[in-house]
Amino acid sequence: EKGGYDYFMLKEIAEQPKAVADTLLGRIDAAGSLRLDELRISPAELREVDKVVIVACGTAFHAGLIAKYAIEHWTRIPCEVELASEFRYRDPILDPRTLVIAISQSGETMDTLMALRHAREQGSKVLAICNTNGSTIPRESDAVLYTHAGPEVAVASTKAFLTQLVACYLVALYLGQTRGTKWGDEIHAVIRDLSRISDEVERVLETMEPVRRLARSLADKNTVLFLGRHVGYPVALEGALKLKELAYMHAEGFAAGELKHGPIALIEQDLPVVVVVPSPRGRSVLHDKIVSNIQEIRARGARTIVIAEEGDEAVVPYADHLISIPATPTLLQPLVATVPLQVFACELATARGNEVDQPRNLAKSVTVE
Ligand code: F6R
Repeated sequence: EKGGYDYFMLKEIAEQPKAVADTLLGRIDAAGSLRLDELRISPAELREVDKVVIVACGTAFHAGLIAKYAIEHWTRIPCEVELASEFRYRDPILDPRTLVIAISQSGETMDTLMALRHAREQGSKVLAICNTNGSTIPRESDAVLYTHAGPEVAVASTKAFLTQLVACYLVALYLGQTRGTKWGDEIHAVIRDLSRISDEVERVLETMEPVRRLARSLADKNTVLFLGRHVGYPVALEGALKLKELAYMHAEGFAAGELKHGPIALIEQDLPVVVVVPSPRGRSVLHDKIVSNIQEIRARGARTIVIAEEGDEAVVPYADHLISIPATPTLLQPLVATVPLQVFACELATARGNEVDQPRNLAKSVTVE
């Protein structure tokens, strides 16, 4: 049942190109427009939405953080993202024009379920993004967009995360398409890029041997830091979470711009720091800023592990280890940038003798608050 792999996690990492393609299947028409009639929220209702609130936990929360960038950029609707476990305890402002999106692989996470119940009690519509047919969260929501990752067995989420991202992009683009925005042309171009992204994920998977070697060489480290900016920031958080849960190492993700406000004090000789670099095309200001961050930490002795777009020459002089990923539009980069971090955590866990599919103290679905 592991299909020749040693662990479910390895199998599920390898299944990501298919999971991504399956989640797009049937949702883009021949003219390159989105078809999400399955949503059960009418275009008229979507045009009324004046705020989006995303609730989720763990890895699904990281997908939500990335969705915020996409939703606000393509639709200009304000979007908040909140940990489901915090949500209902702070008296959040919700009304019938708020669209709440609950993201959950299992569809059974109690924190997320309680958050969506609270939102519905306030009259908000809830859209579930979920991987498990007929589970509680979609049953209790007004609408559902299923991810088609297939069953995820390993406790650490991988292919579900990538498909959650795809579903979030679809919702963001669909909201943009339905309401009309100044980004009409960009939306069309991104839909085209999205339909090719599965091949790019496949290409990343084919180049992972150096990442595995690097991970093994770091097996005796205590700490790894992760830095990113823009959508690379939630990717950094996800890289750190994977490492904590699988390798039981101290790992933290930071927004690179925050370094100088405190975390740079952590940098010491030989500390591994993974940096997710935004595309040098597009938002190039961000790119230049992060290159100076890499310079700064390297000058203080950090061992820099740089994830950057192919052909990004500017990072080469400062990268002790360079992990190249295919060029994508900035907002879609998490789909390719996360994959090396999953492989990295999985290999480090193996090198440390940990149980990859069943990390200590964790359960696949958390059905208590
Ligand atoms: C991390 C992980 C967890 C889940 C979280 C939410 O690898 O798997 O952080 O993402 O418990 O679970 P779901 O998506 O089932 O609601």
